Amino acid sequence: MNILILGSGGREHALAWAIKQNPKCDRLICAPGNAGMAEIAECAALDIEDGGAVATFAEENAVDFVVIGPEAPLAAGVADRLRAAGFLCFGPSAEAAKLEASKGFTKEICDACGAPTAAYARFTDADAARDYIRAQGAPIVVKADGLAAGKGVIVAMTEAEALAAIDDMFGGAFGGAGAEVVIEEFMEGEEASFFILCDGENVLPVGTAQDHKRVGDGDTGPNTGGMGAYSPAPVMTDAVTQKALDEIVKPTVAEMTKRGTPYQGVLYAGFMIQDGQPRLVEYNVRFGDPECQVLMLRLGAQALDLLLACAEGRLDQAQVNWADDHAMTVVLAAKGYPGGYDKGSVIGGLDALPETSSQMVFHAGTKEVNGHVTAAGGRVLNATARGATLAEARDRAYALADGIDWPDGFYRRDIGWRALG
Ligand code: AMP
Ligand code: GLY
Repeated sequence: MNILILGSGGREHALAWAIKQNPKCDRLICAPGNAGMAEIAECAALDIEDGGAVATFAEENAVDFVVIGPEAPLAAGVADRLRAAGFLCFGPSAEAAKLEASKGFTKEICDACGAPTAAYARFTDADAARDYIRAQGAPIVVKADGLAAGKGVIVAMTEAEALAAIDDMFGGAFGGAGAEVVIEEFMEGEEASFFILCDGENVLPVGTAQDHKRVGDGDTGPNTGGMGAYSPAPVMTDAVTQKALDEIVKPTVAEMTKRGTPYQGVLYAGFMIQDGQPRLVEYNVRFGDPECQVLMLRLGAQALDLLLACAEGRLDQAQVNWADDHAMTVVLAAKGYPGGYDKGSVIGGLDALPETSSQMVFHAGTKEVNGHVTAAGGRVLNATARGATLAEARDRAYALADGIDWPDGFYRRDIGWRALG
């Protein structure tokens, strides 16, 4: 079959790498793609948030299956447009994508289905929000309702910080995303992510992971899109996983179906776990980046069969063949990220690195220029490896990262520290 993947990050390179290994994949096209994807697929320049343009492209290229990587095209209704045009597509409708695009909507769904989450209130008025913060006290969490590229959440340890966040959000710092804010109880515990395929009716877990959001070693410095991840997440024991499925994921999926907006795609649930009890922090309507890289390395070629079963509504017949292994990915970012950074520096050493079913350097912000791989974004490469233990996966991932010759890049040295002790 002919398969089109939308996106250009490490997540999409990992999806492309896994899908390409499955004999069902004849032709693979990535739009817009990056230098890594260009090595294994055709890349096409396409506005991936323009559903009409994507449908026309899919038509012209006899595409049989479209996999949508990032949230922006999902929130923009690209999956709806493709399905209306008769294409098989992996990813939720715009209505179902509100589970990521509106934090207030997710809270409403949790209330309706009884899923454990932080206590909260929603505000469109700054004075009312300030009064609520003063009444509740700190620590407290202030969130812009809409999509804010991962920057719309302020975990305020003092009342003054929370009040400043209200000034910023209602002052337009997050554009339309901040027109409404959700103010939440601060939850303590350990965080983990859980990835579940949903076909509107059935759910199939495809892995757990933990990521590292802060830029610096020891989880210090500003937040980023994620500096590294590992799978599985030890805190997601069988008992916690079962509770998360029974109390949070399945009720959410049932509530979405009941509302006439069934959820089809991968649900990425972020939990806070304390004393064996998971509570929902947030949903995303896509794979995590870089969490997808460790999941795809662990799943390999079967990922395509699972995504197809999801899109075709037959997850009840699908199963995951798990290897009893661990995977880790280390993100190489441009110096300066998540602040300002330069583009265009040449990255060497990649050709000499072993690329096998258990170790891969996935590309994120890269671009080929005159036969050289160059940096074209903040997060640039993902050194990813599997091992029988997490320590082995870490050693292999770091051996890959250390083999890359890129003086303008940096990476954290301590990915996995919580689990490795
Ligand atoms: P979100 O975008 O909602 O995942 O929030 C980003 C990060 O903020 C989460 O990964 C948590 O580390 C933190 N966070 C969000 N909500 C809460 C909460 N209610 N209590 C404690 N930490 C939170
Ligand atoms: N790594 C966090 C995310 O993809 O949202």
